[in-house]
Amino acid sequence: MTTLFDSFKVGDLVLKNRLVMAPLTRMRSTQPGNVPNKLNAEYYAQRAGAGLIVAEATQISQQGQGYPGTPGIHSPEQVAGWKLVTEAVHRAGGVIFLQLWHVGRISHSSHQPGRQAPVAPSAIRPSGKAFTADWQMADFETPRALELKEISSLLADYVTAAKNAKLAGFDGVEIHGANGYLLDQFLQTGSNQRTDKYGGSIENRTRLLLEVVDAATAIWGKARVGVRLSPHGTFNDMSDSDPVALFSYVLGELGKRGVGYVHLIEPRSSNAGAGDGNIEGAPDNSKIFRGIFKGTLISAGGYTPETAKQAVASGAADAVAFGRLFISNPDLPRRIQSGAELNRYDRNTFYGGDAKGYTDYPALG
Ligand SMILES: Cc1cc2nc3c(=O)[nH]c(=O)nc-3n(C[C@H](O)[C@H](O)[C@H](O)COP(=O)(O)O)c2cc1C
Repeated sequence: MTTLFDSFKVGDLVLKNRLVMAPLTRMRSTQPGNVPNKLNAEYYAQRAGAGLIVAEATQISQQGQGYPGTPGIHSPEQVAGWKLVTEAVHRAGGVIFLQLWHVGRISHSSHQPGRQAPVAPSAIRPSGKAFTADWQMADFETPRALELKEISSLLADYVTAAKNAKLAGFDGVEIHGANGYLLDQFLQTGSNQRTDKYGGSIENRTRLLLEVVDAATAIWGKARVGVRLSPHGTFNDMSDSDPVALFSYVLGELGKRGVGYVHLIEPRSSNAGAGDGNIEGAPDNSKIFRGIFKGTLISAGGYTPETAKQAVASGAADAVAFGRLFISNPDLPRRIQSGAELNRYDRNTFYGGDAKGYTDYPALG
């Protein structure tokens, strides 16, 4: 029977256990310039006991930013900052991928070059609040639909970011196709009403995601590219007319491409960890889609050590990612393995700030 502490393979990479640190936005990069720093390096190195760290969502371009203080991977200073992180993680024996991010309509004009409107597949304003550049909450704005001729420069931004991630010493990249950000906005009918080759049919709505995956694969090789998806997730005002058909197609295509892994978020914690407790009766993505995607599957969302053990033992997933528990337990794998008590997380220090609630959670003595 497979356990959380059996090693697992992503292509040629052998990961020491099946506990993954989920990507976690913490909004603590150095300003101005959204540059990763020494404190960020210390935080990730503390968590190098994970089989795989997926570093926080990182904007591929200024246009892709949607929150204050999130790091980028489009300037030389950011590459140098991320090098501090990857070197510290590697020294501590860890493996780290970077999550490539464009938020699309979840941005706010205060983050945009020239204070323009955020971009999206279609000019559909999501309900809810944006996080402005000066740390205020403001209603989402109506985005501008990307023109067809802009897609090639968007893809070029992904290529630059994927190359920069390599320069910065990452072990691979995860394409952020989840949680209602740009690629997910293209996938789902609630946010995509385009009539060109990027809208309409499932094939057309999936086109951009697959083009990004192919571009990243050309740089990294297929095994070093993972993809995160959130079928049935409603965070960021997402909806689709037929999510099972859509994501079955997406997973089939990713399977054909032989990507390193797919990282599926369970909708039971679909507000991306914004609330506590799980939604009862939510669809079980790893059950629904496991039969369609035969490659390495990482499952995330609302796991406890016990349910994670079961998921891996039953084969529902190859590995399990933890988000909030990795925030408060730098040595989470060791604690789970020894049955030690877990530190509780403090939601007040999730986003922004300093070492408090970031690098000061205690490890076991
Ligand atoms: C503070 C915080 C930041 C997050 N940032 C990201 C992110 O950058 N990228 C992403 O894909 N998901 C993000 N998520 C979602 C988590 O990766 C994870 O899917 C979610 O927290 C559910 O897992 P959990 O129940 O183990 O916390 C975030 C969640 C939290 C709580």
